Amino acid sequence: MRYYVDGEDRPATEPQGTPQLPPWGETRVVGKPLSRVDGYERVSGTAMYTLDVALPDMLHAAIVRCPHAHARVTKVDTSRAEKMPGVRAVLTGTTPGADLPWYFGEQGPTSKLFDPHCRYAGEEVAAVAAETPHQARDAAQAVVVEYEVLPFVVDPDAALKPDAPKVHEGGNRLGDPRVTQRGDVQAGFAQADMVVEGSYRTPCELHTTMETFVSVTRWEGDRLTVWESTQGVYATREGLARTLGLPLSSVRVICPYMGGGFGSKFEVGKYTVIAALLARMTARPVKAALSREESFLSEGNRPANLITLRAGAKKDGTLTALQGSFTGVVGAYPSGGTAAFQVLALYRCPNVRVEESDLYLNAGKARAFRAPGFPQCNWALEQLMDDLAQKLGMDPVDLRLKNLTTVLQMWGNPPFTSTGLGECLTRGAEAFGWQAARARPRGAGPVVRGVGMAAGMWGYPGEPRSTVIVKLYPDFSVNLNMGASDIGTGTKTVMAMVVAEELGVPLARIQIEHADTGTTQYAPVSGGSQTVLVNAPAVRAAAADVKGQLLEIAAGEMNCSAGDLVLADGKVARADSTGEPKPVTDLRGLQERQVLVGVGRRHPHPQGKVGLPFAAQFAEVEVNRRTGEIRVIRLVAAHDSGRVMNLKTYENQVFGGMTMGIGFGLTEQRLLDPQTGKMANANWHDYKIPTAKDVPLEQTCVPVDPHDTECNTTGAKGLGEPATIPTAAAIANAVYHATGVRVTEAPITPMSMLELLAVPKGGE
Ligand code: MOS
Repeated sequence: MRYYVDGEDRPATEPQGTPQLPPWGETRVVGKPLSRVDGYERVSGTAMYTLDVALPDMLHAAIVRCPHAHARVTKVDTSRAEKMPGVRAVLTGTTPGADLPWYFGEQGPTSKLFDPHCRYAGEEVAAVAAETPHQARDAAQAVVVEYEVLPFVVDPDAALKPDAPKVHEGGNRLGDPRVTQRGDVQAGFAQADMVVEGSYRTPCELHTTMETFVSVTRWEGDRLTVWESTQGVYATREGLARTLGLPLSSVRVICPYMGGGFGSKFEVGKYTVIAALLARMTARPVKAALSREESFLSEGNRPANLITLRAGAKKDGTLTALQGSFTGVVGAYPSGGTAAFQVLALYRCPNVRVEESDLYLNAGKARAFRAPGFPQCNWALEQLMDDLAQKLGMDPVDLRLKNLTTVLQMWGNPPFTSTGLGECLTRGAEAFGWQAARARPRGAGPVVRGVGMAAGMWGYPGEPRSTVIVKLYPDFSVNLNMGASDIGTGTKTVMAMVVAEELGVPLARIQIEHADTGTTQYAPVSGGSQTVLVNAPAVRAAAADVKGQLLEIAAGEMNCSAGDLVLADGKVARADSTGEPKPVTDLRGLQERQVLVGVGRRHPHPQGKVGLPFAAQFAEVEVNRRTGEIRVIRLVAAHDSGRVMNLKTYENQVFGGMTMGIGFGLTEQRLLDPQTGKMANANWHDYKIPTAKDVPLEQTCVPVDPHDTECNTTGAKGLGEPATIPTAAAIANAVYHATGVRVTEAPITPMSMLELLAVPKGGE
């Protein structure tokens, strides 16, 4: 995903045909806690996901993967596989058209579709297409590959040593550290009355999307159609066209129902290109459906971070300096491994310096993962703030309130369109009963209790570009044509509510097209917490366009001007309530046209301002000092994500984000076996995501709506990512409050907790 700086990439002229609408005042539909418009389809099994796509004559692909953490392929013998039952094609790096560059860094490609130099266990070596999935897997097993096995490194500390095995020729560090700074940190620390510092570690996590990675590809002449479980059909189209050397117009990408991405489904996967190449070789459609294990090995992860952080403050809590060093452990190929953004932007601080770099390992490549880099940074920053508060004898909430800022201290210091962080802190603390909970005794038995909190923000204002078409039919029903994937967050529901708000059409009469580059218009990826704030204004504009046309027709038939008319309850009426309202279905002009087509385009972001979401979360935990077990007893999440578009999907996002945060803090980590370099928990049994039993019964969501009239015409800011950013740090701070033990390495497992509890504490 590309990140746009505010002010970049503005369309040079105002988009045509969509006048900027005034902000909503009171809304009738938007904001209500409504169930998903596609809930029935999703839970009943009638919704069609990419895995369900079955085309006549379709073949199935299977991929041969390197079993070694680091190896060179010396020979690939496909002769036996080619003779296996049902096999129609075998693809290797020497097949014409398959020699494709892959994994791009600053210096260009670092690998190939099938690179003879395999840098992690699970890397693609060859592929087959056969009549059934089982025949394909059997044939893949029959491909004989000879390897020269190389020394490997799967531990970040070992990878940093000068004599470590090299993942790439140039060594294990990717380029020079990136430095971002303002003011003078030395002077800032000199002014401080108190300086605190810490070293922190976060684990490599797997996305664990409920739907695995799957693609169905079909050629018709030079035209390629791909059904794909993706967060962005347009991004996938662009990646496929570039990789295969095709015009954009020759690639159609369709995303039917979709079962989760969390950032792992932005990039075009090798399996999709493999399926497309096999389909071209066989002149048959080809499906490539990865197993859970393959998805875990090869399709991305949240990079582990090694962080050191230092903060200086005055006696009253005013921050004078922040300094940090971040290393992102990105696996075998280039990827963005860190995001120090919150150190630079969450709190007012004149002197800041951060250094960020990435480190290779013989392991699967990192990808964007729900707020890329932010939960990792938050784990460090918010524990350090907790330390600072304790050393200053300040309440942690007060320390944060002391250091609020209303401008983004980067990108030329633009003011925020709204800053709800202060309100998140105070209203969250109130809903949690922070003061009282903080003062309660922790308990003297083996089980002790504690409470902690953390604040956070997300740093991507969204790509201000989306075109939506709304069609109104003569029976007062609507087709909503939108290019954004609903990745499981409720996008379709929210967009239908926006149409209902503008036109008064009941939700049940609104049909929504799946994202499809062949039929729906451009939308950026559903990610970066931008889906609602980018697309909802375009939906609103398209609906308003239809409404304008409808009122024009009505004005002609009611002998007045369109400005005198209002649309309500499926009827057009005079605003002054004179005369008889006319049902939309009685409008002759609509019957004659049969369809009104409204086009809506997203406007640029406001000049010189930036709209970003904020959060404060509060946790209460129980720690069993005998077993090391930690139970999260309750969570309160106060979020400023602007307007609440649908209270139910809003809460869904917050509870889901916090659940992922519990996993980050307490249970999840990819384990690489130091003996073999292979992933030891590449399945859903051994990779521990939180289950219903790990989630607290008491979870409260406190929406803070600052009534932002500037961020866009709906007033909504992003929510999906901020919901998961501060959870783990709030839990760690609660563990500290309960036990006096500062756990700097995530996840806090019973084992690590017990070990730390056994260390005598000095002077706390
Ligand atoms: Mo997200 S990592 O922008 O899906």
